[in-house]
Amino acid sequence: MTRAELAAELAASLGARHEARFILDEVLGAPLASPVQLMGEREIAVARGMAARRKAGEPLQYIIGHWPFRTLDLRVDPRVLIPRPETEQVVDVAMAEIAYLGAARPVIVDAGTGSGAIALSLATEMSDGVVWALDASTDALAVARVNLETVRQQHEDSMLPVTLLESNWLAALPGSLRGAVNVVVANPPYVSGSEWDGLAEDVRREPFGALVASAGSDGTPGLSAVEEAMSQARTWLSKPGAVVVELAPDQAEPATRMARSLGYVDVRVDPDLAGRPRALVGRVR
Ligand SMILES: C[S@@+](CC[C@H](N)C(=O)[O-])C[C@H]1O[C@@H](n2cnc3c(N)ncnc32)[C@H](O)[C@@H]1O
Repeated sequence: MTRAELAAELAASLGARHEARFILDEVLGAPLASPVQLMGEREIAVARGMAARRKAGEPLQYIIGHWPFRTLDLRVDPRVLIPRPETEQVVDVAMAEIAYLGAARPVIVDAGTGSGAIALSLATEMSDGVVWALDASTDALAVARVNLETVRQQHEDSMLPVTLLESNWLAALPGSLRGAVNVVVANPPYVSGSEWDGLAEDVRREPFGALVASAGSDGTPGLSAVEEAMSQARTWLSKPGAVVVELAPDQAEPATRMARSLGYVDVRVDPDLAGRPRALVGRVR
């Protein structure tokens, strides 16, 4: 059986040509392999096994076991949220805020780091600075640790300044950082319980605690974690400093009101690549 024949078989079974291609690239380790390349029996069995898992509702990213995020290729498994393209944009917003503040060796916190996507992007793309990567989930932190070690090896920088810490939002940061954090970035869970019920099967395979939050204090569905992260960030930020928080487009207005009432100024919500409000920025002076 050739690569093209197996690709056609998997595409028909999955109803998605690009997913078949991802699977074959993973099995062969060669995206540009010729379509007439003959597949070995073992490769065929592995590829069919992966397609069967996908058909059973598992996210492609967990089956493949890694996924690109900005310049990184991150390990992902069911212990962490699959990093999303809109979060890549949130990193751009955070980097712009870091540049705007112009602090020498800025201290950055990624609150709810999951796979480490935001923290590791900032650490590798910023010219200077230190990054704290926090999460309440020990499982997620284990994945972030693997990603941190991989990035350190790839960048031949065993000292890449990232510290992983188990924490309820920012609560476990060392007290010496109070008032000394320049930028807090967070992509908290922001899906409401009722939205969760309607999510696709594969999205519901991601950790519940990474996706779902209760209503905010104003009753806005799914806003409690955004509110808590913004509220805690306020007490750790330097003056000047900034918080950058990802949210759902329909949460932009209530979250803006919340940020203002927490004392943030210049509050705005930047759009994602689809033009939907996505990254709330609040500054302190
Ligand atoms: C939407 S995921 C974001 C993961 C990663 N930052 C990303 O953008 O791909 C939210 C993360 O927040 C973490 N989280 C949930 N509640 C938390 C809390 N109270 N304190 C710290 N982290 C929390 C979850 O474990 C999860 O890793």
